[in-house]
Amino acid sequence: MNTNQIKKYISYYEKERKIIDKKISSVFKQKSPDSLYTPAAYILESSGKRLRPLLVILSAKAVGGKPSQVYNAALAVEMLHNFTLVHDDIMDKADLRRGNLTLHKKYNLNTAILAGDSLLAVAYEYLLKDCKVNSTQALSSFTKGLVEVCEGQSLDTEFEKRQNVSLAEYIEMIRKKTASLAQRCCELGAYLAGGNSNDIKALSNYGNYLGIAFQIQDDLLDITADKAEFGKRIGGDLMEGKKTFLFLKALEKADGIDKTELLKVIKNKGIGANQILKYKRIFEKLGVLDDAKTEISKFTNKALKSIDKLTNKNEIGIFYWLADSLIKRNK
Ligand code: IPE
Ligand code: IPE
Ligand code: MG
Ligand code: MG
Ligand code: MG
Repeated sequence: MNTNQIKKYISYYEKERKIIDKKISSVFKQKSPDSLYTPAAYILESSGKRLRPLLVILSAKAVGGKPSQVYNAALAVEMLHNFTLVHDDIMDKADLRRGNLTLHKKYNLNTAILAGDSLLAVAYEYLLKDCKVNSTQALSSFTKGLVEVCEGQSLDTEFEKRQNVSLAEYIEMIRKKTASLAQRCCELGAYLAGGNSNDIKALSNYGNYLGIAFQIQDDLLDITADKAEFGKRIGGDLMEGKKTFLFLKALEKADGIDKTELLKVIKNKGIGANQILKYKRIFEKLGVLDDAKTEISKFTNKALKSIDKLTNKNEIGIFYWLADSLIKRNK
């Protein structure tokens, strides 16, 4: 990839993100009651990367379609994503999201639950507007994404209490909670733009592997990122006793006192904020931050191998750029 191509891809992303953000700002305009839609707009209009809408748009384009065919679907996946964030923050007891107070902290629990539900409902309203071809496939793909997020989130919660979670079980959990939606975004764009089955498969696999890499990196950033940039609390996964890639890998490699310390996290169902640095040092000593980077590269390469199968080779470059910029991200 040369510098000119990279510049072109970045400006394409910026341009589409602006369009998405503008459309997002009108979703809840003139809708009542305010008690429901003001909180829903609070999360939806806050500054996300808009990765999922981008996947929908790029996938439509990759099969010869136009962004204008899938903008409503792109908004729909962002709404579905924001719904999962609101409910995830309740479950994870998180108080910071995208640099702002989480919805349930800013308002209250009931408001957050309902605002989340409304995001999901309105997501379907928007998706339906773009269902002109392959509607059944598009709707079932979107629904499958939603079902799998719930299953993945349930496994994530179940694993907090379990002693012996394997890395294979972890990968399956993040495939469901995170990668499935990325995968469905790619399928959705391709379906709605009338793509062929070869391209739908290539994009679907790309989304899946990209999503797995993305979640391992989210686990990594949870401990290595800068709070102001990441916009979320640092060390939250350890505080909640999450079985992240880092934690499971550390448990596998550790012995002696380190192992005892790690087992304490499980026994006590998490740690206090004043202990985060201690565990970060253990992770560093065991080399699991580097192991995570290796794993991220492994899944990213699988994503690239998948997208190589796209029929129109001119469309592949931007998917390479996206995978690369996600690896380099710090938020
Ligand atoms: C956060 O997703 C939830 C995960 C699946 C890790 P993003 O990192 O895409 O969050 P935003 O939308 O950019 O805020
Ligand atoms: C993402 O997992 C799960 C979702 C489906 C929202 P996390 O719980 O790690 O996401 P963040 O770090 O809070 O964004
Ligand atoms: Mg969370
Ligand atoms: Mg979570
Ligand atoms: Mg996280």
